[in-house]
Amino acid sequence: MKSTTARLDRFISQHSGFTIADTRILIAQKRILLDGCLADSIQQRVTEFTHVILDGKCLQDNAPVYIKLNKPKGVVSATKDKMHSTVLDIIEHPQKDHLHIVGRLDFNTTGLVVLTNDGAWSRKISLPETKLEKTYEVTLSKSLTEDYIAVFRDGIYFGYEDITTHPAHLEILSDYRARLSLIEGKYHQVKRMFGYFQNEVLALHRVSVGGISIEDVEVGEYRHITESEREIVDRQCVRSDS
Ligand code: URA
Repeated sequence: MKSTTARLDRFISQHSGFTIADTRILIAQKRILLDGCLADSIQQRVTEFTHVILDGKCLQDNAPVYIKLNKPKGVVSATKDKMHSTVLDIIEHPQKDHLHIVGRLDFNTTGLVVLTNDGAWSRKISLPETKLEKTYEVTLSKSLTEDYIAVFRDGIYFGYEDITTHPAHLEILSDYRARLSLIEGKYHQVKRMFGYFQNEVLALHRVSVGGISIEDVEVGEYRHITESEREIVDRQCVRSDS
């Protein structure tokens, strides 16, 4: 998930036969275009998504990709696996080998997995301080009681990490089904929270992460995240920061 941003003169020296010192001359001779505009300073920043042309030749042309995928049971949230199919096997995209996963799901968990090649964006939405809400639908082996609501709201102590979970919102949908919203993502967090009540999770489905919902995508399918979905998430990140 590397996010590359370099000064223009360094980028030119790394991607052409010219040196860092040559870049000033190339700029003066109007030979470099950044996103369609003439470069005007060696200090301009080139990100992994800046379109760079030198002497009419394209040096870099990466578009950011944002995907939401509805993971089936038995598919690994990884980009490579020797034994099982992975979420990447579901995707057909020329840049799929540059995608990384933002927030993995367990092997048998279904639902929303976000993939992108935009390291800055994935880092931003994954930061603990961003507090982006993740919502799960949970099917349980024992019937639920109202006690769960207060326990989940007050937090549960996880000895392994020596932390108490942040307040979580539980909505009981029926005796054995609930919707749980969390702002963190500790290892097996949902299963461990219900484990506090010795209540085994039989099925777990992530329905949303911030403003990105998986309800419009069939299991085993994916689609590109729209700009408006991304704007909602970006606004949620800003709001949580403040
Ligand atoms: N919590 C879990 O226990 N498993 C998941 O896949 C996601 C959250």
